[in-house]
Amino acid sequence: MEAPLPVLSLLLVLLAVGWGDGAGAAWAMSPGGCEHVQSTADCRRKWLRSVPRNLQGDIEELLLDDNTIQVLGRASLLSYHQLKHLSLTKNRMELIEPGAFLGSQGLHALSLADNLLFTNYSITAAALSALPALRTLDLAGNQLTEGMVSVLLSNLSSLESLSVARNVIMRLDSSVFTNLTQLLELNLEKNYIFEIDQAFEGLQRLQRLNIAYNYMTCIVDFNLIQLRVLNVSYNIIEWFLALESDDLFELEVLDLSHNQLLFFPVLPRQSKLHSLLLKDNKMSFYQLLPNGTSLENVTVQFLLIDGNSTNITTVKLWDEVCYSNLSSLRLLDMSQNQFWYLPEGFLAKMPALTHLKLNQNCLETFHLSEWDPLALLTDLDLSQNLLTELWEDVGAGPALPNLQLFNLSTNMLRALPAGIFTHTKQITTVDLSYNRLDLCPQPAVLGRSAPCVDIRGLATLTRLSLAGCGLRDLGGHPFRGTALTHLDLSDNREALSGDLGWLRDLAATLQVLSLRNTNLSSTSADFSALQSLVGLDLSGNTLTALPTSLGALKLRSLDLRDNSLTALPADVAWRPLGRSLQELYLSRNPYNCCTLGWWKALQSMEHLLVPDKHEVTCNYDSQRLNAWVLPEPVLRDCRWRTADMALLYLVLTLPTCLTLLVAFTVVFLMLKPKLLKMVKRRCGVSSPY
Ligand SMILES: *[C@@H]1O[C@H](CO)[C@@H](O)[C@H](O)[C@H]1NC(C)=O
Ligand SMILES: *[C@@H]1O[C@H](CO)[C@@H](O)[C@H](O)[C@H]1NC(C)=O
Ligand SMILES: *[C@@H]1O[C@H](CO)[C@@H](O)[C@H](O)[C@H]1NC(C)=O
Ligand SMILES: *[C@@H]1O[C@H](CO)[C@@H](O)[C@H](O)[C@H]1NC(C)=O
Ligand SMILES: *[C@@H]1O[C@H](CO)[C@@H](O)[C@H](O)[C@H]1NC(C)=O
Ligand SMILES: *[C@@H]1O[C@H](CO)[C@@H](O)[C@H](O)[C@H]1NC(C)=O
Ligand SMILES: *[C@@H]1O[C@H](CO)[C@@H](O)[C@H](O)[C@H]1NC(C)=O
Ligand SMILES: *[C@@H]1O[C@H](CO)[C@@H](O)[C@H](O)[C@H]1NC(C)=O
Ligand SMILES: *[C@@H]1O[C@H](CO)[C@@H](O)[C@H](O)[C@H]1NC(C)=O
Ligand SMILES: *[C@@H]1O[C@H](CO)[C@@H](O)[C@H](O)[C@H]1NC(C)=O
Ligand SMILES: *[C@@H]1O[C@H](CO)[C@@H](O)[C@H](O)[C@H]1NC(C)=O
Repeated sequence: MEAPLPVLSLLLVLLAVGWGDGAGAAWAMSPGGCEHVQSTADCRRKWLRSVPRNLQGDIEELLLDDNTIQVLGRASLLSYHQLKHLSLTKNRMELIEPGAFLGSQGLHALSLADNLLFTNYSITAAALSALPALRTLDLAGNQLTEGMVSVLLSNLSSLESLSVARNVIMRLDSSVFTNLTQLLELNLEKNYIFEIDQAFEGLQRLQRLNIAYNYMTCIVDFNLIQLRVLNVSYNIIEWFLALESDDLFELEVLDLSHNQLLFFPVLPRQSKLHSLLLKDNKMSFYQLLPNGTSLENVTVQFLLIDGNSTNITTVKLWDEVCYSNLSSLRLLDMSQNQFWYLPEGFLAKMPALTHLKLNQNCLETFHLSEWDPLALLTDLDLSQNLLTELWEDVGAGPALPNLQLFNLSTNMLRALPAGIFTHTKQITTVDLSYNRLDLCPQPAVLGRSAPCVDIRGLATLTRLSLAGCGLRDLGGHPFRGTALTHLDLSDNREALSGDLGWLRDLAATLQVLSLRNTNLSSTSADFSALQSLVGLDLSGNTLTALPTSLGALKLRSLDLRDNSLTALPADVAWRPLGRSLQELYLSRNPYNCCTLGWWKALQSMEHLLVPDKHEVTCNYDSQRLNAWVLPEPVLRDCRWRTADMALLYLVLTLPTCLTLLVAFTVVFLMLKPKLLKMVKRRCGVSSPY
């Protein structure tokens, strides 16, 4: 017990020295604490209070993140002439002394994020202005106001990339970024900006601007022609109006998602826009009222009063002709808005579209005609709308020759237009879940034929969801000719009531099958044909025993939650199923606590993961116990009840047997003389007594 004490005190001495003054001392505290990898010195999380001085002189990159450096002192980098990249994030830095970068004229990337540079920003500004080659600067999280930013940046005209995210900037005007003529990228995320007035005029090379998570209410006369990426998501923008001009804007990505837009934005007339993100706004088109009234020719007059002169302007407010050239648009996300229709010809302006997301709106119809080009569209998401029909069933609909994913989940569709998949030679995934549909050929409904969805012969289709479609009886081979690998039939209480011959049509290809909540009760459901199956969801049914055909399958994932299982077969761990399983869900079944041998065996399988193992319960004398840790008395009692049952019977029956035996013997002995006599008489042999 003596040895640790000197070591401890030595450590304390070193610590005291380290916390005192002087860079060398701090470094001595953990000699060799920095790791050198090629030309990088990694000194992160070392409790340093200053820059170590005894690193290799030729390092180009120095990482000092997560230390406690408060002041970057004069000439503290003097010995590192080659330094190009310095990172000091998450220190407690309040001040960079002028001259701190003496000898580091080549520094071109400096990260000062998450410090306290607001404290002595004007002195720090002077220090920064001595970095003629600085190209990348990160000042995020330093509690800086726009005034401080303006001072800090005033002499950094070589900057190409700047982040002032997570500060307290509220207003930007032309004085803040004046000298940053080389700037390509500017990050203003997570400030409190509510007004921007000509702040980016001088930034002639700016390509990427991020103003996400601020308080902008509108963007009018957007005129940053050279900008390629504008991110204004998570603001409270109601209006986006680009300058009316025929100049070609370089804009490629515009992110206006999570705002309060009421109208489709007025985009630059000519641009290179390929991604337009408008998710989660309040947009709609207003020319048509839901009762059929058209506001097409309704005009509104604006009275503009400017000083003592007034002007009247007449505007067709609901005019929804989109004047922008959207011929390069590839991704359009209008999900989570209030669109209930799209104006005629709206999508025709976007011939290059590959991804169209219209989910979570209130679309009642979605009319596409054979003239709507959309020839390149691969993903179409119309889920969570109020669709009762797609385009009219007469004549040819759009060809959609490149469509791969079609999501129609959660609508009110009864059928799909006939021939909808005639030209979709690339289609792989169709989600029809939560509509009221029937598959063709549908079960004969007395006399009349109701509409149905025909996917037979759709050879490219691999993933199909029909969850919650109210399917009845899948007789007649509705999946014949498909190569389905993933099929979801969950939440169809009557789908499995009839012939299960359709399973054999998919035997060669089906890999993942969901039969959750399908009223599957019979243990006779025969899965033995599905030799390619690797994932099976049988949760939410009324299984009382594991279907025997499963034992021979080589599943990797099986879900048995919410059934009526009292036990799994004792040998399940040694069957092909047990040996192949990697993921098994078991909870919410009334297992018997005394027949958990299978559970023990499964627990010993190393490759098997039971994610809900702590929720597996079992029943014991009308109590529900956690099967993961059964109390010892229960285990003992169970041993009595099961393995030692024979002994118990023996013990119980032994007294009775003994009594009977004794009684029998007594009777026998009492009757013995008579018996002997009887025998003698019968045999006619006399014996001498
Ligand atoms: C830095 O700012 C603090 C608080 O504003 C002040 O007390 C201190 O004197 C300043 N340091 C220098 C070197 O000016
Ligand atoms: C910027 O540079 C000019 C001239 O070199 C100098 O007068 C001025 O003080 C500098 N500004 C800052 C904030 O250091
Ligand atoms: C721009 O830089 C020049 C010197 O490079 C400097 O004199 C001037 O003050 C700077 N402008 C602003 C607004 O800081
Ligand atoms: C815009 O910024 C937000 C917040 O940082 C981010 O989640 C989103 O991906 C960005 N958008 C684009 C198109 O990069
Ligand atoms: C449709 O609704 C608008 C506004 O609610 C109403 O002014 C108009 O008269 C209605 N038109 C018809 C034909 O009902
Ligand atoms: C609007 O006006 C144009 C011409 O002025 C006319 O052709 C069109 O039918 C009108 N639309 C409606 C809905 O009244
Ligand atoms: C409008 O007001 C300006 C001053 O605000 C005045 O000089 C000018 O004469 C006025 N014009 C008219 C037409 O009243
Ligand atoms: C009024 O409108 C005319 C023509 O549209 C325009 O030339 C003039 O500048 C406008 N005046 C004001 C005060 O907006
Ligand atoms: C739209 O822009 C493309 C080039 O991006 C050009 O080829 C096409 O002619 C333009 N269309 C119109 C109507 O201006
Ligand atoms: C279809 O959309 C629904 C809801 O929007 C979503 O849950 C589901 O994962 C989507 N299906 C596919 C195949 O992407
Ligand atoms: C579930 O199946 C049982 C027979 O297996 C049947 O009696 C019952 O009606 C079915 N329930 C539903 C909702 O179809």
